Amino acid sequence: MGRLEGKTAFVSGAARGLGAEMARILHAEGANVMVTDILQEEGEALVHAHENMRFVTHDVLDEEQWKAAYAATKEAFGGLDILVNNAGIAHDATVMEETSLEQWRKVVGIDLDAVFLGCKHAIPLMKEKGGSIVNISSIYGIVGSAGQAPYHAAKGGVRLLTKAMAVEMATLEYGIRVNSVHPGFVVTELVREGLKRAVDSGFMPGENEAIDMLTMQTPLGRLGAPRDIANAVLFLASDESSWVTGTELVVDGGYTAQ
Ligand SMILES: NC(=O)c1ccc[n+]([C@@H]2O[C@H](COP(=O)([O-])OP(=O)(O)OC[C@H]3O[C@@H](n4cnc5c(N)ncnc54)[C@H](O)[C@@H]3O)[C@@H](O)[C@H]2O)c1
Repeated sequence: MGRLEGKTAFVSGAARGLGAEMARILHAEGANVMVTDILQEEGEALVHAHENMRFVTHDVLDEEQWKAAYAATKEAFGGLDILVNNAGIAHDATVMEETSLEQWRKVVGIDLDAVFLGCKHAIPLMKEKGGSIVNISSIYGIVGSAGQAPYHAAKGGVRLLTKAMAVEMATLEYGIRVNSVHPGFVVTELVREGLKRAVDSGFMPGENEAIDMLTMQTPLGRLGAPRDIANAVLFLASDESSWVTGTELVVDGGYTAQ
């Protein structure tokens, strides 16, 4: 029997990267899984081979699309037990003085505002039976770096939104636990694009050198695999973490412990 048997999970931004691995592992543990993303082709390809896994096209910036995606989840699977707010983007500019307000709002919109929307509209679906919300922040939600100010601000916001919501849900006795996961470096499209920009702007020497450098700076001696992050999400999604709320689970090979 799987650790999530009989539960329904919703993972945003799950057509590829870390989210796709989260969807696969939650499904492998018995959950029905709703995969959502703006990448329709990749999302449909992911759910194609899996029974009890569905895909809806969903832009997390759009409040009406959140409502529609949750309605589709309820219709397909009867409810919602687990929400993973995973969709995210990196900052496409570099230094603060060259960052426009529009670029700032784009990153904060997808990486923070959308987490608020996902959480807010999940509450009515979860508060009768309880549930688990996992917000994907980053080690960049805890520490700073050069060239990614809006991303740090948004991911730091997710960290405290999570804690505030955890306390509020407990106070209201809704039975909804809310936690954040803070991945370190896992080479996905998001990281590849980020490294390329860091190299182009002179913050890092070259992409391969940057990866070697990050690996050397990681006490466990390797970068993360998508499964490392998905396993942390699985723990927080499951009843094994029933006394865990408002926590920040750092999964980074020891990078921020130094
Ligand atoms: N990879 C890492 O090292 C790392 C580290 C820390 C945090 N994270 C976080 O993990 C999450 C997943 O990132 P990833 O590395 O898998 O990157 P990724 O780019 O592979 O995946 C992100 C997904 O979000 C989707 N997305 C982007 N904008 C969207 C929107 N408006 N509506 C719906 N979906 C949208 C993308 O289409 C993509 O499928 C992000 O929140 C990211 O900030 C990643």
